[in-house]
Amino acid sequence: MLQYIFFFFLFLLVGGRGRLQTGVSADIESVKVGNISKVEDAVYFHVYYGQTFKVIKNGVDGKSYLLIQDNSRMAARTKYCTARIKSFVIPLSNYSVDTEYFPVSFFELLGSVGNLKGMTSESVASECVLKSYEQGEIHIISKSEPQLLHQFSAHFISNTDQPQACNFASFLPSEEDTPLQRAEWIKYLGVFSNLEVRANAVYDAVKENYMCLTKVAANKSAAASFKPIVAWMNYNDGVWSFTKDTYKLKYVEDAGGENVDASINKITYNISNPDDLDELHAILCSTVDVVIDESYTSDPVGYNVSTFLQTINVEEYSCFTFLTNKSLWRYDKRIQNSTTIDWFDGAISQPQLVLADLVEALFPTGSYTTTYLRNLAKEEGVINIKSEMCDRDSSTAMEPTILACQL
Ligand SMILES: *[C@@H]1O[C@H](CO)[C@@H](O)[C@H](O)[C@H]1NC(C)=O
Ligand SMILES: *[C@@H]1O[C@H](CO)[C@@H](O)[C@H](O)[C@H]1NC(C)=O
Ligand SMILES: *[C@@H]1O[C@H](CO)[C@@H](O)[C@H](O)[C@H]1NC(C)=O
Ligand SMILES: *[C@@H]1O[C@H](CO)[C@@H](O)[C@H](O)[C@H]1NC(C)=O
Ligand SMILES: *[C@@H]1O[C@H](CO)[C@@H](O)[C@H](O)[C@H]1NC(C)=O
Ligand SMILES: *[C@@H]1O[C@H](CO)[C@@H](O)[C@H](O)[C@H]1NC(C)=O
Ligand SMILES: *[C@@H]1O[C@H](CO)[C@@H](O)[C@H](O)[C@H]1NC(C)=O
Repeated sequence: MLQYIFFFFLFLLVGGRGRLQTGVSADIESVKVGNISKVEDAVYFHVYYGQTFKVIKNGVDGKSYLLIQDNSRMAARTKYCTARIKSFVIPLSNYSVDTEYFPVSFFELLGSVGNLKGMTSESVASECVLKSYEQGEIHIISKSEPQLLHQFSAHFISNTDQPQACNFASFLPSEEDTPLQRAEWIKYLGVFSNLEVRANAVYDAVKENYMCLTKVAANKSAAASFKPIVAWMNYNDGVWSFTKDTYKLKYVEDAGGENVDASINKITYNISNPDDLDELHAILCSTVDVVIDESYTSDPVGYNVSTFLQTINVEEYSCFTFLTNKSLWRYDKRIQNSTTIDWFDGAISQPQLVLADLVEALFPTGSYTTTYLRNLAKEEGVINIKSEMCDRDSSTAMEPTILACQL
């Protein structure tokens, strides 16, 4: 049966031309199938297991990776590098990452930071990866010298808009539509290091906590006299818009809130146009209880409530519930060097923390300290991520933060 599956995937991989088949079946007895990960929620990747190999398929960019166990005969004789398929010998003994949009926290949860040996910059929102870097475990490899990246068994990237060498592997959790689907990509990285058991355990714990918090939020929502309406708002180049990102809308639902109406989030509002501005004010005044301001700024540290008020262009705001009730948030609370926001890293791998933040924003208890969201209306500032904040040996696994959740 497995042999059959094996050839079936080879067929898929090499498009039926089948150059790979020769000499492969002899390997099949030599290595036992190990621990496996099953993809439950994510839709953009799949994992298939053979006796001495695994295949991971990335549905976003259409690439497949043939991962060959280093103790198999196939490892020494098989090497693939085409536009659609690449081979890697696993478990990876070392790897590097392109830090652009890359969530290194997945490696921390897996406990594989000890094998992270190269990064393209020090722009990472992780205190412990910074610590490894400062201790000389990780070297900075400039992207202007791409040949230096060839020394690593794999080079992981999240920005696929670049030339890709044979050892490049893409990692694209952000393409998924729900918070849990994004988090499940820990299994994708786990297969490269034979860390399926760990990846499954982390995902199960995160998912269980997330689901529990969702139930608590639903109960809070049912007990409240109304569901708070939440607007994710973005200001760019003179124009305000509301988010259409599915995962953000899902967070609001799971936190027991309601999203602004679809008729509103379709439209953009140019603040130089008085009619647009009026309409924006009307919406903010009449329907919105909680605002999450996700506008890009080159100076997150200096971004405060005044910055927001200037761009929506109002002086008198007693009409705005989210201001009178002090619920104006940004997701840049945890930030490194004023540039790299943990929202694009730790918040992807641990969505239960984001959900808990949102529940606090929607149904404030005053006793919960948020992780990623800061309240501009309460003059909450940023937390500057530094290596000194790392309280463990970086090469050991980070435990997911499981929040108290009582129904
Ligand atoms: C399965 O995972 C466990 C725990 O990580 C490990 O001890 C064991 O060696 C693995 N088995 C195989 C066959 O890889
Ligand atoms: C990475 O691992 C490979 C395979 O074990 C080895 O050949 C290479 O020298 C290692 N590179 C670094 C930078 O450690
Ligand atoms: C906003 O409106 C102003 C005035 O009509 C116009 O000059 C500007 O190009 C508009 N901006 C965008 C991004 O459309
Ligand atoms: C916001 O920051 C600006 C300067 O960065 C400062 O002048 C202003 O007082 C701040 N506003 C509030 C409400 O803190
Ligand atoms: C204002 O916040 C309180 C909790 O701090 C909440 O009970 C109330 O419903 C909120 N009012 C509105 C209009 O959102
Ligand atoms: C901090 O960011 C600036 C660019 O905003 C960059 O020039 C500088 O090298 C960075 N410093 C560190 C230590 O990452
Ligand atoms: C929901 O909350 C109410 C209080 O508003 C509580 O009495 C009830 O036990 C809760 N139900 C569940 C299933 O947690």
